[in-house]
Amino acid sequence: MSDYLYGYGPAEQERLLRQARYWKRAGLFDGVEFRPGEAVLEIGCGAGGVLGVIHELQPAATLSGIDVEPRQVEHASAHLRELGAPDADVVAGDATELPWVDGTFDTVWMSWFLEHLVDPRRVLEEARRVLKRGGRIVVCETDYSTFKVHPESPNYDYLEQAQYDYFERHGCATAGRLLGPWLTAAGFVEVQNVLAGFHHYQVPGDDRLSQHANYVAEFIEPTVERLATSLDLDADRLQLGVEHLRSVGADPRGAMTQIVYRALARRAG
Ligand SMILES: C[S@@+](CC[C@H](N)C(=O)[O-])C[C@H]1O[C@@H](n2cnc3c(N)ncnc32)[C@H](O)[C@@H]1O
Repeated sequence: MSDYLYGYGPAEQERLLRQARYWKRAGLFDGVEFRPGEAVLEIGCGAGGVLGVIHELQPAATLSGIDVEPRQVEHASAHLRELGAPDADVVAGDATELPWVDGTFDTVWMSWFLEHLVDPRRVLEEARRVLKRGGRIVVCETDYSTFKVHPESPNYDYLEQAQYDYFERHGCATAGRLLGPWLTAAGFVEVQNVLAGFHHYQVPGDDRLSQHANYVAEFIEPTVERLATSLDLDADRLQLGVEHLRSVGADPRGAMTQIVYRALARRAG
């Protein structure tokens, strides 16, 4: 995937593991129970961070994953072996042609994946095909128009717009708010899409604002050169936007908002 923004280097793979744990602490897995023996597939599994969290939540679940990039598959398999899940079946392949027969899985999970696709319909139809009748899909995505900070800054706005524009060009910047219609169009039933909005502000003794600002800065900063080249933008100004974002985390007046969506739906029984 030549236009995949984050790349596949070791630093990004380790960041993905930290990210999965960050979202677990932030509650993104709350209320999604996994039963012993449940067959779970993660599509676009990256470095294996989410599969690792699912293994920790339910060690007796049967895990599978697929990613188009062999380096991610290798990393995910090694990570799961280290966590004590050597039987996890992680394969390289394209989500538009899943290598599993109809009705294989109880749960399909996708996070921060559909945002990279220009047209997610075929992938969602494939996800529905490999689910058992009555099986569920869980999809987490954000909306790149919602990353707001206080104090405001023109450099930060420049950075936020660049990120939005890149996703609009190579995927979908507003994937989170489209999950309901997408899942319905792909034939799922009992579709719900729920806001898991995050708003943090400076509170003495509470580091959630700095943690969130740093988490976002950590995934944007390595993309600055790519954003500048691809969108013909000023890399120094983008970098100043990243620095502003980090400064918000330490500012006594600081605050940050980001909207995340979590959709749940089923294959009809
Ligand atoms: C941001 S990562 C998300 C990883 C993981 N879901 C997580 O939450 O940690 C997105 C992953 O989707 C993969 N990907 C993108 N397009 C794909 C496709 N068509 N089929 C399979 N994987 C794909 C990329 O290689 C990348 O590893």
